[in-house]
Amino acid sequence: MNLILLGPPGAGKGTQATRIIEKYGIPHISTGDIFRKNIKEGTALGKKAQEYMNKGELVPDDLVIEIATTRLLEEDCKEGFLLDGFPRTVYQAEKLDEFLEAHGKKIDKVLDIAVEKEELMTRLIGRRVCKACGATYHIVNMPPAKEGICDVCGGELYQRSDDTEETVANRIEVYNSQTMPLVDYYTEKGNIAHIDGAAGLDNVFTAIVNVLGE
Ligand code: AP5
Ligand code: MG
Ligand code: ZN
Repeated sequence: MNLILLGPPGAGKGTQATRIIEKYGIPHISTGDIFRKNIKEGTALGKKAQEYMNKGELVPDDLVIEIATTRLLEEDCKEGFLLDGFPRTVYQAEKLDEFLEAHGKKIDKVLDIAVEKEELMTRLIGRRVCKACGATYHIVNMPPAKEGICDVCGGELYQRSDDTEETVANRIEVYNSQTMPLVDYYTEKGNIAHIDGAAGLDNVFTAIVNVLGE
């Protein structure tokens, strides 16, 4: 199963991805996570990406396409994959389609998770992430058992540097102008499913399973 998770910042892509990969046994490919790992390790790619991410702007297409397609060539993607946060522009989507076609593959389903702006702001400003294992929490919606500590691994929780009010607002604008056109792009292809992301975590997952099948 080759899947794409589409949706604005804070829609719950990462949160649902954790559940989807567990149920369907496919790898989770988040371009944002790949960039954050590179920033942490201080690589040249990380330095370049950070300039854009801190402002809530998109990293240039050619760089992202290179990273994503290289990852898709790895062995674990043979039986399927879940893309999270890629593609994010029509150009990226076209390049992805060219790449998949050249490898005899296609996208089976695009899960478009919609949530309104106010709620996105609340979710992102309250988000906390584990430094060690990447597990995601929310100070109100999904608090850890012990404040500031990861339930899964005991690691320290932190706030993403792009989760400030100003940067979040810009990320949402960038989504509306540059990524929303993908909804039309995949509607034309006939493989998009719309998911109400405003529901609770479990209900959103149930809606996704209803689309993908048991
Ligand atoms: P990326 O890391 O992809 O961030 P994003 O798209 O902005 O999305 P988020 O990770 O912020 O949100 P999410 O949908 O995963 O929400 P989550 O599940 O965590 O990208 C970061 C940056 O990298 C970009 O700005 C760009 O610069 C660059 N980049 C990445 N890919 C790129 C590309 N293809 N092209 C160019 N640049 C690229 O949930 C959020 C919060 O809400 C959590 O606290 C969670 O607990 C809570 N929550 C989740 N679901 C629910 C629910 N149903 N009810 C209540 N609370 C919920
Ligand atoms: Mg995410
Ligand atoms: Zn952890």
